[in-house]
Parts: sequence; C-alpha cells; structure tokens
Amino acid sequence: MTDRELYERAVAAAQRAYAPYSNYFVGAAVLARDGQVLEGANVENAAYPLGVCAEKTALAGAVVAGLGPGDLEAIAITASPCGGCRQWLHEFRLERVTYLHDGEVVTRTVAELLPDAWAL
Ligand code: THU
Repeated sequence: MTDRELYERAVAAAQRAYAPYSNYFVGAAVLARDGQVLEGANVENAAYPLGVCAEKTALAGAVVAGLGPGDLEAIAITASPCGGCRQWLHEFRLERVTYLHDGEVVTRTVAELLPDAWAL
C-alpha cells in the first residue's frame, strides 16, 4: 500500500470520528509490516481534556491487535499531528508520517517532526 492510499484510509476513518464538541473530524491509519491497516479517529468527551486524538486510537488499536514498536511501518493522519502525538509516533518507531499540511499531503520522518526526542 502506498502512503497516499494509507492517507485515503485515514480520510475514510475521519468520517467515523466522535467529535461533537470541536466538530473537527480527524482520521488516522497505521500500516503494519504484515500489511494490516489499523484505523483510528478522534473521540471527544464532554469533559474536554479527556478526548483522545485519532493517532492515539489507531496506535492503541494496533497494540490490541498484537502489534508494537518494530511492527509498524507508516501512519497517515488527516491533520498535522499534535505535539503529544508526535511523542507517541516516536514511541512506536513509525518510519513515515503522512499528513495534510497547508492543503498538501506531505510525508515526513518522526525525527523531522520531533527532533532530539526524549526517550528512556
Ligand atoms: N486532534 C487529533 O485527533 N489529532 C491531532 O493530532 C490534532 C488534534 C483532534 C483532537 C480534538 O478532538 C480535535 O482534533 C480538535 O482539537
């Protein structure tokens, strides 16, 4: 699957977001090395800070599917990943991150998105 195709999966997943408070629907799709695609969408809550980003739900889904760091190749997101999610992308060692930026679909490395990342 190409990064562009993965991005289209993220666009489809965004339609299933639960975002009644911001009305900002975000989708994410993770490509595993075995070819599986795990989708995610943002899930909000009336207690606003409890909402979760699309990237986190996709990566949590990957974990539940038995996948972890080293098993995941790429992620696509319909928005530029927030700072906290960049640390999640670092944790799961994604090779490529594709997202919409200024109306253009771009692909970056996590190191470009989060230089000098903190790690244990
Ligand atoms: N959001 C994401 O899902 N991912 C990001 O990286 C940026 C922000 C969501 C969180 C919230 O539900 C909505 O976008 C508006 O901030």
